[in-house]
Amino acid sequence: MSNSPYQQDHEKVQFSEIFKKFKRLRLFEPSVGILGFFFVTVCVICCFFYLDFRSVINKGYIVPGKSERFMWLHVNGSSPNRRVEFLGEDGDGCDVFDGEWLWDETYPLYHSKDCSFLDEGFRCTENGRPDLFYTKWRWQPKNCNLPRFDAKMMLESLRNKRLVFAGDSIGRNQWESLLCMLSSAVSNKDSIYEVNGSPITKHKGFLVFKFRDYNCTMEYYRAPFLVLQSRPPAGVPKNVRLTLKLDQMDWNSGKWRDADMLVLNMGHWWNYEKTLRGGTYFQEGREVKLEMRVEQAYHRSIETVLQWIQNKVNTSKTQVFFRTFAPVHFRGGDWRTGGNCHLETLPELGSSLVPPETWAQYKVVADVLSANSNRALKFNILNITRMSAQRKDGHSSVYYQPSKPAPLRLQDCSHWCLPGVPDSWNELLYALLLKRKTKKTHNLSSYRAHSFR
Ligand SMILES: *[C@@H]1O[C@H](CO)[C@@H](O)[C@H](O)[C@H]1NC(C)=O
Ligand SMILES: *[C@@H]1O[C@H](CO)[C@@H](O)[C@H](O)[C@H]1NC(C)=O
Ligand SMILES: *[C@@H]1O[C@H](CO)[C@@H](O)[C@H](O)[C@H]1NC(C)=O
Ligand SMILES: *[C@@H]1O[C@H](CO)[C@@H](O)[C@H](O)[C@H]1NC(C)=O
Ligand SMILES: *[C@@H]1O[C@H](CO)[C@@H](O)[C@H](O)[C@H]1NC(C)=O
Repeated sequence: MSNSPYQQDHEKVQFSEIFKKFKRLRLFEPSVGILGFFFVTVCVICCFFYLDFRSVINKGYIVPGKSERFMWLHVNGSSPNRRVEFLGEDGDGCDVFDGEWLWDETYPLYHSKDCSFLDEGFRCTENGRPDLFYTKWRWQPKNCNLPRFDAKMMLESLRNKRLVFAGDSIGRNQWESLLCMLSSAVSNKDSIYEVNGSPITKHKGFLVFKFRDYNCTMEYYRAPFLVLQSRPPAGVPKNVRLTLKLDQMDWNSGKWRDADMLVLNMGHWWNYEKTLRGGTYFQEGREVKLEMRVEQAYHRSIETVLQWIQNKVNTSKTQVFFRTFAPVHFRGGDWRTGGNCHLETLPELGSSLVPPETWAQYKVVADVLSANSNRALKFNILNITRMSAQRKDGHSSVYYQPSKPAPLRLQDCSHWCLPGVPDSWNELLYALLLKRKTKKTHNLSSYRAHSFR
């Protein structure tokens, strides 16, 4: 079966028509007939995906691009001209965060059962999640191609180096994803170990994994606010249990500063529930600001983090990344009121149902950045909010515990299944790491060329 481009377009149109119909249906009181039609349509689509997937599984191997039923998904994006390579000189200005999700049967990059470095909360397939589509989407930037992830190459670049993640549990989600991506290239898994012998699950402080053969460490520091949370000064009202020092970095930041690569994130703890409600108030200098609102405090703490990077980190040595807010996808509520995402098996290809707080969170960071736009930023923004907003299918939902699926009203639509969406953030991290390396080499060789002339 060889589809002409016209036929491919036609099929694509039909597909989006169905989605549109679905949306329209929800607006009007649906009649039984329309509901029936809708049900049959959904069944047809599901069979279509399911059969295709089975045929791949049954063959026992994965052939890239061989599945013709999926050909129409392999559209080459909105720009018809050829894409440049991100690592080439032409790729210099390419915005790798602007792009789309493409179906790719060579994914995922690893399987959770082969990776011992994963919290059970991220092992969705092993916890009973029946669909696997969410593992098969690749991020494709609009104007350039990313290098294919190569774990050996990344480990070589990290030889004798330290890679540090600091932030909240979504940062840990990303860190564990990278541990799995990298360890897939190491045959002797015993050569990867936590230096203090700490187990990976339910750990609260920090974890340092060493890849012995490369003498490199992959470290995670739990610091959901990045700034310092500690006891209040004497003489404050009784309801102030702890304060966040908005002008001081977390105590562990001294250990982050000398890393070779540092990935920071925050956001998910900057809300009323996780601060004021539990008795955590805000403090600047010696003054506890009882009236300060969470959003204002968040703004202030981002400024502190940016100043710390600009003034205290040697960015010639340390490549710093600030990852933007990872969206949550609770439908019909939030995590307290029974919001859900367990029926999502496909990315949102059109508009997104991301709750407005994602954009509020994102905007605070964007505001601080644009206020600083007159200064040259000495770090990379890992700008993943928009790309991840489309991935409502990627969360753990009810598959975050090993014994049995959790009750429908207790879903996790914040963390991500692994393998899954955070792997793509790490592929971007990899691309930016290699980009910096090639730029350094270019500069070095042009310098040499000069000095020989
Ligand atoms: C996409 O681009 C590749 C080359 O870049 C080409 O071989 C392929 O036919 C294109 N596919 C479609 C659907 O246009
Ligand atoms: C992040 O990416 C989005 C989508 O590509 C873009 O609109 C936005 O300006 C970017 N923000 C930053 C801070 O780079
Ligand atoms: C291992 O890496 C550390 C930095 O993380 C470095 O200080 C040390 O010299 C390295 N050891 C060897 C044997 O290269
Ligand atoms: C910053 O790091 C570079 C590269 O490692 C080093 O050459 C330089 O001396 C460092 N600068 C300071 C102020 O420590
Ligand atoms: C490479 O050289 C260009 C100018 O030739 C300079 O602007 C840039 O900062 C240099 N990059 C590095 C990493 O040294």
